[in-house]
Amino acid sequence: MSNTPPAAENRFAIRGQFITYNSDPFSEGDDAALVHEPDGLIIVNNGTIEYAGSYTQGAPLLQGCPLTHYKHQLITPGFIDTHVHYPQLPIIGAYGAQLIDWLNTYTFVAEQRYDDLGYARQVSRVFLDELARNGTTTAAVYCTVHPNSVEAFFQEADDRKLRMIAGKMLMDRNAPEALMDTPQSGYDDSLALLEKWHEKGRLSYAITPRFAPTSTEAQLDAAGALWKAHPSAYMQTHVSENKDEVEWVKALFPNRANYIDVYAHYGLTGPRALFGHAIYLEETEWKHLAETDSSVIHCPTSNTFLGSGFFNFQRALQPESASQAVRTGLATDVGGGTSLCMLKSMGEAYKVGQLSGYSVSAAKAFYLATRGAAKALHLDNKIGSIEAGMEADLVVLNPASTPLLAFRTQYCNSIEELLFVQMTLSDDRAIETVYSGGRIIKGGE
Ligand code: GUN
Ligand code: ZN
Repeated sequence: MSNTPPAAENRFAIRGQFITYNSDPFSEGDDAALVHEPDGLIIVNNGTIEYAGSYTQGAPLLQGCPLTHYKHQLITPGFIDTHVHYPQLPIIGAYGAQLIDWLNTYTFVAEQRYDDLGYARQVSRVFLDELARNGTTTAAVYCTVHPNSVEAFFQEADDRKLRMIAGKMLMDRNAPEALMDTPQSGYDDSLALLEKWHEKGRLSYAITPRFAPTSTEAQLDAAGALWKAHPSAYMQTHVSENKDEVEWVKALFPNRANYIDVYAHYGLTGPRALFGHAIYLEETEWKHLAETDSSVIHCPTSNTFLGSGFFNFQRALQPESASQAVRTGLATDVGGGTSLCMLKSMGEAYKVGQLSGYSVSAAKAFYLATRGAAKALHLDNKIGSIEAGMEADLVVLNPASTPLLAFRTQYCNSIEELLFVQMTLSDDRAIETVYSGGRIIKGGE
């Protein structure tokens, strides 16, 4: 009985060149880590990759299963956006000022509408449609302080069978009245949402204190207690994004040694802690993150748009001692970020690197958006690679998606060059077909 083959429609294959990683290009070098299969075969069975390798080797396994041949495309693992705010989609690209002004002028106004389940569901739909259009198959998502904002997002993500992480923001000070909870209500609402949604289907819950300035000590304490009781959940927040913010945290928490120490004091560092931005960190903070196996998230289009500063790639990913490296993901941070397209984020990460003395190669940039991001989320055993046993989250990219790219790609002499011009010159137009758990969520016949 156990040998009963799965229904034929659950098993299919795609043929075409693909890339994946067998290790970390930051520690092992690009050539060792990047795998390019020029004529690849990926067999998907019930949403999971059954075989990934060369077409010649894998062809005997096909046994009549339907095969789509992508002759002129490039297949990559689905992109992973490790920090993004869906409720801020209506204010993406808003003009003016740096972080704190931007929060007060646009963000805290836009976020007040999400007590309305219908509105939250409508924006969640647009947001998830956009992620699919951009080839993003997993995201770590901030909702608002309202439980309805989380409910709507998870309902929509669950209907689409996506792998998503999200949570209710915790904010009990320094915000408009309509956006504040209390330590108790924030705890109770988070717990109820966590119990309902965490590990339901492909969903995970993230305990989400917005950042230290908008939570009292009592609230951070409650968030730490909740995480301690549910350590398989995530903890996501912002840290050291902006110089004025860092000074503000010093003034609000005079007894703490530094910004990371505020979170550490309340038990908010450790595996599955995701710290957005992490620009102005001191060495003691980096050490703490490495030693507690916390993750940092680089959000380049946000950091340049809000004039926040430059991420330290060298310290995060290639420190002198390998044991000091910190798990790092790439992210859009929309609405602070200016695009939901991870290709754009890769291109901007390269520019941030250029301005701060670190060269982010294409192999490294694609890693940060795929397997590296999966590692930052502790999900690299499920997503981020094209490998047997992984969930079939795949992007089929057209490298010649614009007239200029059709012209430019003729002159590419290597896979690295082809990848690099994609992150430099292309955008959502390159994303042709997207599979999530083996289901087509964008494109297809
Ligand atoms: N810090 C606290 N809240 C936010 C936010 O919504 N966006 C960004 N970029 N930084 C923050
Ligand atoms: Zn953010």
